[in-house]
Amino acid sequence: MKTYNIGIIPGDGIGPEVTNEALKVLKAVTPGRFDVNFVEYPYSGAHYLKTKELVPDKVIDEWKTLDAIFLGAIGHPAVEVGLVERSVILGLRFGLDLYINLRPIKLYAENLCPLKGKTPKDIDFTVVRENTEGEYTQIGGILKKGMPDEVATSTSLYTRVGIERAVRYAFELARSRAKANDKPGHLTLVDKANAIRPQEIWTRIFAEVGQEYPDVKQDHAYVDAFAMLMIQKPEAYDTIVTTNLYGDIITDLGSMLQGGIGIAASANLHPGKTSMFEPIHGSAPDIAGKGIACPLAAIMAVSMMLDYLGESSSAMTIENCVAGLLTSGQIPSLDASSGLSTTQLGSMVVEQVRKSVG
Ligand code: IPM
Ligand code: MG
Repeated sequence: MKTYNIGIIPGDGIGPEVTNEALKVLKAVTPGRFDVNFVEYPYSGAHYLKTKELVPDKVIDEWKTLDAIFLGAIGHPAVEVGLVERSVILGLRFGLDLYINLRPIKLYAENLCPLKGKTPKDIDFTVVRENTEGEYTQIGGILKKGMPDEVATSTSLYTRVGIERAVRYAFELARSRAKANDKPGHLTLVDKANAIRPQEIWTRIFAEVGQEYPDVKQDHAYVDAFAMLMIQKPEAYDTIVTTNLYGDIITDLGSMLQGGIGIAASANLHPGKTSMFEPIHGSAPDIAGKGIACPLAAIMAVSMMLDYLGESSSAMTIENCVAGLLTSGQIPSLDASSGLSTTQLGSMVVEQVRKSVG
């Protein structure tokens, strides 16, 4: 039987709480199928406060030898803004060259959607967020800090290689979603190339690569309009490809269409290499330690991890169990109003998983 070595970074705030539940579900799906070996890492804001340690380079190298990495959440109110996030989350994304951030927006039960009249068949699209360029490269800085003539710069970087690999991945995904759902393929490029002209490189590369995919319908939306359109007619979209920052923003918005950030999961991928899986939510210090965080996003991130590892039937088992609990109303909402604790929610999924794996 195959054993997967999985790095676990529980992190800060609600991170360890939701990670516990996600790993509970992972262990429930393994019997008779595969084994998992967890390697835990302490990196977090809390760890930094205690030790002043960020992620050392040699640990990034060690991560590359694992099969996958699972991350709970990073962010601590007592640590300098963004310091640990840049070390751990961006450290992983840049250090392992995880150039795709895959974020499905899927509504499982009508009652979870804040939009009137929208049902699960209307909200099912996937965002392919370029994950190693754009505004996130840290190119720039502050000069003459605090002085009257202070200057700040932040450079957006777009490379042909970086765009092409993201766009190609998105076309392939659009094609495979079309096949799986027996409908025509559809990929939408989201950018702001009208105001930010250098983004025209996205327009050209999208058109170039698109010639290889005549079976996939191709269109485009400026990100401001897209923010409106995804609320007005989410059913018009299937696969989206966009820049790092726009992908960050539209997927938080998109998570609301799914019923909340409590179920939104993501995969940070370098296809064929060690990749990282995380809920898209943060450490939520305001609710940390109360046992009320929703672990479904972390659980769905485990499902994405298994799918990536080639354990697609186990991935589907988990997704179907979560979907079943939501459609049946056993889990009535994705926030504390459900009255269900973090561990209760995790145990409910575990129970369903045990039943379906027999
Ligand atoms: C996300 C987060 C991160 C990002 C932060 C924590 C650096 O918001 O994964 O969406 O901006 O990418
Ligand atoms: Mg974000």
